[in-house]
Amino acid sequence: MRIDIITVSPELIKSPFEYSIMKRAINKGLVAVHFHDLRTFAINKYGKIDDYQFGGGAGMVLMIEPIEKCINLLKSERLYDEIIYMTPDAPTLNQQTANTLSLHKNIIILCGHYKGVDQRVRDLFITKEISIGDYVLSGGELGAAVLCDSIIRLIPGVLGDETSALTDSFQDNLLAPPVYTRPADYKGAKVPEVLLSGNFPKIETWRSEKSLEHTKAIRPDLLD
Ligand code: ADE
Repeated sequence: MRIDIITVSPELIKSPFEYSIMKRAINKGLVAVHFHDLRTFAINKYGKIDDYQFGGGAGMVLMIEPIEKCINLLKSERLYDEIIYMTPDAPTLNQQTANTLSLHKNIIILCGHYKGVDQRVRDLFITKEISIGDYVLSGGELGAAVLCDSIIRLIPGVLGDETSALTDSFQDNLLAPPVYTRPADYKGAKVPEVLLSGNFPKIETWRSEKSLEHTKAIRPDLLD
């Protein structure tokens, strides 16, 4: 898989890709992530990429021309399955979206900044819009990093234990059950007996019950 990220702050978004699972996926050649500094496509030699919004109002808007140039350059090199725009006014990211995107070959992610992008960018080039939650961030970069992490860990071969992504919270609309490790008794706080029993069908039943209990208590909306 190849992910092209268009941003005004490449330095802000790079570091999450230099650690842990995402780093391993890149080093194994399972995903390639490329960062494109929008300023490289500025409309003048002073690096202009944004302007005031028509009709008045605070905040700068990213201009269509630099974004079109960058997207067109990428599209001239390969076919893209999706061109995604990170923005709070969009459907919220969920596991189903991450699953679907992890099956793609090439995607572009455009990070918004300031007041966002000229609406014509969204109308003409964007094929999918994603928010990471009902709150406003200073830009789309952190959202893009979250999106990439959720996708990359699902690519076959990225996680050591192939089944572990499947047992994550949300894969079956349920939150994960509690987990424990050694010691079995920590200053009187004991691990549930069933987990020490070696009885795997019983353990599975216990985990399912806990998942359901937890989901009912914390996120009943998932069960609707
Ligand atoms: N940009 C600003 N806020 C955002 C959010 N909640 N999700 C995705 N991109 C954003």
